[in-house]
Amino acid sequence: MGASLKRAAHDILIGNDLGGYTVPTKGLYPYQWNWDSVFVALGFATFDLDRAWRELETLFEGQWTDGMVPHILFRKNDPGYFPGPSVWQTSHEPFPTSGHSQPPVAAIAVRDMFEKAPADENAERAKGLFPKLMAFHRWWATYRDPSGEGSVAIIHPWESGRDNLPDWDEPLSLVDVSRIDAYERKDTTHVDASMRPLKQDYDRYMAILQSGRAVGWDPHKVVENSPFLVADPAITMILLRANRDLLALAERLGFQRERVEIQGWIAQLERGVASLWNETVQAYTTKNLRSGVFGAGVSSAAFLAPFAGISDPKVLDPMRNHFDRIAGKVTYMVPSYDPDYEGFEHMRYWRGPVWAVVNYMIARGLREQGDTLRAERVRQDTANLVAKSGFAEYFSPIDGTGAGGRSFSWTAAVWLAWVSPTHAVEAA
Ligand code: GLC
Repeated sequence: MGASLKRAAHDILIGNDLGGYTVPTKGLYPYQWNWDSVFVALGFATFDLDRAWRELETLFEGQWTDGMVPHILFRKNDPGYFPGPSVWQTSHEPFPTSGHSQPPVAAIAVRDMFEKAPADENAERAKGLFPKLMAFHRWWATYRDPSGEGSVAIIHPWESGRDNLPDWDEPLSLVDVSRIDAYERKDTTHVDASMRPLKQDYDRYMAILQSGRAVGWDPHKVVENSPFLVADPAITMILLRANRDLLALAERLGFQRERVEIQGWIAQLERGVASLWNETVQAYTTKNLRSGVFGAGVSSAAFLAPFAGISDPKVLDPMRNHFDRIAGKVTYMVPSYDPDYEGFEHMRYWRGPVWAVVNYMIARGLREQGDTLRAERVRQDTANLVAKSGFAEYFSPIDGTGAGGRSFSWTAAVWLAWVSPTHAVEAA
């Protein structure tokens, strides 16, 4: 089984490769996506390191002059996708992009790839990307932490990469949709509407997009003008982790001057993440920076604390309790949202389904902290999901049904980089 899945995963990456960049899946997502490309690079790195570097280099071709790396790079127009470049109306050259970012996982992969084989050529590729990573992380610190508090905010649910998380419901309910342009969705022509966000969500997504477009995507004004500004624990913890990896890279690659700046970012995030601790839920949750309201339940982000290098028992003990409670409820860990919460839907996108890339980050953090039992549960469940339902976009935590797009690049990539039986031997 292992060998044929490995071959299938290779074939998916190669089949979705459009020449130096990889689409998440054909049809539903026909462009280059930010964090997808990073996980794809980790997959390629298992058999073609040169191609893995290429994936990250092409991703950074989309970087804006202010440092932002957009969530979508529209290299060729594809009428099968909405909202495309004519809706976003950004001004990046030589190809258009979307107007906001996605979880900053890139530095994590660059460090991994460099450490895989720190030969001269890898050092050169990592050095080439280093200043771009600095500019990207500086952009997050400058524009997405407006109060300087150390918790990272998003201006659109799409920026989180967890588009219709139940925690966005409260902030989205405050978004005025009375002036949105007429539009026609394309996603539901590719996959079953019951697995996708609702129309009421989409209307709000469009209203927020229009608010950024109205200020010409100026990074300061976007934050001032957005009807949606929510601190996201997943991005905050991913950025904290990515900064630690960036610091290690700076040390290994000889970027001495940058170290102090990165250390400052780390200290700020270590302080700031505490502001997302939700006493009632006993977990890190989202926090609406406009209304002050916290997210209502435990999302998979709560389990990223070890990945962020957080070792405080006051955080980790309740986190383990949540893990064990949820693990007793579902067949496959880790659901994107707490199954004990009324907003949970096992097949609808980020309202319950399991996502292989999130599992990868959760398990990696758990293992790094020596929690091999829980880490191995997450890895084994992910392996079982792929064995049962193939390389789907996401999976039901209840019955393992595959959902959304098929032949999905990041699911194939994390299979190669982490899930496959070869890694079970390492984990034992
Ligand atoms: C969806 C996901 C997002 C992902 C994109 C492409 O929008 O929510 O996280 O990057 O699809 O796979």
